[in-house]
Amino acid sequence: MYKFYCVFLAIVSAAIVSAGKEKIMLNLKKESWISDNDFKAIIKLSFPFSLCCNAYVKGKTLGVDVLFNQFIKNFKYEYTVQSLSYDCHAYFGLASSENDMMNKVKERVPTSISTTELLLIIDDKITSNSSILDVSIYKNSNVNIISRSGYWTLSENYLFPRVFKKVKRLKELRHKRGIVDLQGRQLQVAAFYNPPFCYLSTTINQTINKIDGEFFLANDDRELDGIETKLFLLMSKRLNFTWKIRKPNHYFRYGRPNGSNWEGGMIGQLFRNEIDFAFSGIWLKHDQYQYVNLTEPWYQLLIHYLVPRPRPQTSIWALTRPFTIEVWLLLIVVIIIQSINITIKARINQRVPKKFKSFILTITELLNIGSWSPLGTYGLRLQIHLWHVYGILIVTAYSSSLASRLTTPDYEPRIDTIQQFIDKNLTWGREAPVPNFDDYFNLRDPYAGKFPDKFTIDIDEEDRHVKIKKGNYAIIGRIVQGIFFPENHIRDADLKNYRVMKQEVGDYYATFAVQPWLLHSINKMVLWLRECGFTKYHLTNVIHRRTSLSLRNVLEEHDIKNNEGARVLILKPLIAGFGFFLIGLFISTLVLIYELRKKYPTISIFKTIKIMLNKKKFKKQKQYKHKSNIIIKKI
Ligand SMILES: *[C@@H]1O[C@H](CO)[C@@H](O)[C@H](O)[C@H]1NC(C)=O
Ligand SMILES: *[C@@H]1O[C@H](CO)[C@@H](O)[C@H](O)[C@H]1NC(C)=O
Ligand SMILES: *[C@@H]1O[C@H](CO)[C@@H](O)[C@H](O)[C@H]1NC(C)=O
Ligand SMILES: *[C@@H]1O[C@H](CO)[C@@H](O)[C@H](O)[C@H]1NC(C)=O
Ligand SMILES: *[C@@H]1O[C@H](CO)[C@@H](O)[C@H](O)[C@H]1NC(C)=O
Ligand SMILES: *[C@@H]1O[C@H](CO)[C@@H](O)[C@H](O)[C@H]1NC(C)=O
Ligand SMILES: *[C@@H]1O[C@H](CO)[C@@H](O)[C@H](O)[C@H]1NC(C)=O
Repeated sequence: MYKFYCVFLAIVSAAIVSAGKEKIMLNLKKESWISDNDFKAIIKLSFPFSLCCNAYVKGKTLGVDVLFNQFIKNFKYEYTVQSLSYDCHAYFGLASSENDMMNKVKERVPTSISTTELLLIIDDKITSNSSILDVSIYKNSNVNIISRSGYWTLSENYLFPRVFKKVKRLKELRHKRGIVDLQGRQLQVAAFYNPPFCYLSTTINQTINKIDGEFFLANDDRELDGIETKLFLLMSKRLNFTWKIRKPNHYFRYGRPNGSNWEGGMIGQLFRNEIDFAFSGIWLKHDQYQYVNLTEPWYQLLIHYLVPRPRPQTSIWALTRPFTIEVWLLLIVVIIIQSINITIKARINQRVPKKFKSFILTITELLNIGSWSPLGTYGLRLQIHLWHVYGILIVTAYSSSLASRLTTPDYEPRIDTIQQFIDKNLTWGREAPVPNFDDYFNLRDPYAGKFPDKFTIDIDEEDRHVKIKKGNYAIIGRIVQGIFFPENHIRDADLKNYRVMKQEVGDYYATFAVQPWLLHSINKMVLWLRECGFTKYHLTNVIHRRTSLSLRNVLEEHDIKNNEGARVLILKPLIAGFGFFLIGLFISTLVLIYELRKKYPTISIFKTIKIMLNKKKFKKQKQYKHKSNIIIKKI
């Protein structure tokens, strides 16, 4: 208030050196040409929602002073004079001539914002061809102009063309907002095929408003479907507008910022005012918000990957799997300690059998863990029998675990986190253009930051099919209402070997992009649709009707299904066992050969074996002879 007085004093008169409010009022007792009641009504109708005001005053005539005094008296909220507060959408202008006023408006008022409310009072006469009534100055703002020759109001910003209308009754100064009637105005709209949001696809080439475009025919119920399409149609009905939907032009779907410009895509079309409304999976993002107006979000979507299912595997190390590596190590350590203990005992205590004096012999004896209790354990009875019991427990645990593991299918570990995705060296892709990675992932995350390196462009569906067949390829998409939708079309057969990766990689809010003059109405509509459950209904309904079985299947895990029963053991998981057996056989053969050579150092092994076999024959013959002798004797 203090600020205001300073400025006001300067305007009113330099002569008044120190003056309180009452004194100024007294000096300005001159009658105004607007009655106080009318003034109150004008302010109320022009600033229906504002609790603050930016005021401008130009001109030093007595008439201006009187009017300004009247404003102070009738405006009940905070206001600033000659300085700007963008938080405040109400602007009050007061001038002695229309030219002064026009300059002020052009300089200071952000007219492109649709919620801007302008009340201009001109202490002069104006005619309907006055330049202050030039519609183009006011862009999207709501304007009321009061002059000595009459009151004018600018028609609603959502109707085209906008015109100034002379007001017959004060009530006409009110501007409508929220759920309004667009009176059948044709809106230019952009969208593209993007299940489950929009299924429009058939187009024809047309030129509308001198701009070439590919327009959707949209005459087919199956195409005029999708969650956002349905919401759009509801809005069109409620707000009473007609529409013409086109594809985004050029290379991009949404486009990219370039300095103060937005290039390409639907956002670009909106930025250049070619269209009024855009939908089909637009993300509520700060980037876009700086260039166009985005509405309240209608839903939150999660970005996920489809990753290859874990394949069944049979490891040659299957026999070791019942125990972890720690248990195996512990087993070995226990055997060694026990052997050392027994060896030392045997060397101290003479009554312990001599064989335990050798460390190697003791180890081999103890390795028969659980299978038999060695004889001749004098002096070691308790120790050895406890060892035996321990052995039986370990062997039982091992065998039962092994049986259940070997007879149920064994799968690779699942890929469920970003880290596993990167470690597995998966690649991913989509059709051109290259996405803006920063929107998709948190690139500051050490693992998610590697996603851009793993990206390759898919040339077309066939290329993607080849990549999927090759393996190691992840499919990107969004989860809507619990169902995964890939960004590009994937053949049903290709989806068979895919499942959803548990960890989400990003999320975003889906909104609509609109011209400023539609913002308030569409916002209201979105809130209304959400509150009344239309959003939820169409989400469920569209997904229920349009989701293929293969898209539902990716949510199912196959590696936990165990209705096939026990499987027949194949060679591979047992190979370690056979390996042990073969190695043992090999070693014992070597030992045998070594022993034979020691006994018959001069004869070749082949001959030695022959001699051994002959010896057996000889023995048999001998036995036979012996038996026959007895028989003869008996006879
Ligand atoms: C506006 O129209 C009146 C007649 O209606 C004419 O006398 C005047 O010159 C016009 N002013 C401008 C600025 O065209
Ligand atoms: C929609 O606009 C048309 C054209 O102005 C009008 O005739 C019609 O009455 C409006 N419909 C509704 C429901 O307001
Ligand atoms: C429409 O124009 C685009 C290029 O702007 C072209 O690729 C397409 O084939 C045209 N479609 C028809 C049906 O003429
Ligand atoms: C950005 O705009 C400038 C000037 O309009 C242009 O030369 C440049 O090629 C644009 N950059 C991109 C990436 O399109
Ligand atoms: C609409 O967008 C423009 C440009 O980004 C911005 O200046 C304005 O504040 C937005 N309007 C509203 C109501 O947010
Ligand atoms: C062997 O272990 C037993 C306990 O299990 C211990 O009492 C004994 O001292 C150990 N003997 C040697 C020689 O380490
Ligand atoms: C990961 O994949 C890329 C290309 O697919 C390949 O060049 C690279 O050698 C792979 N790295 C590892 C560790 O497998």
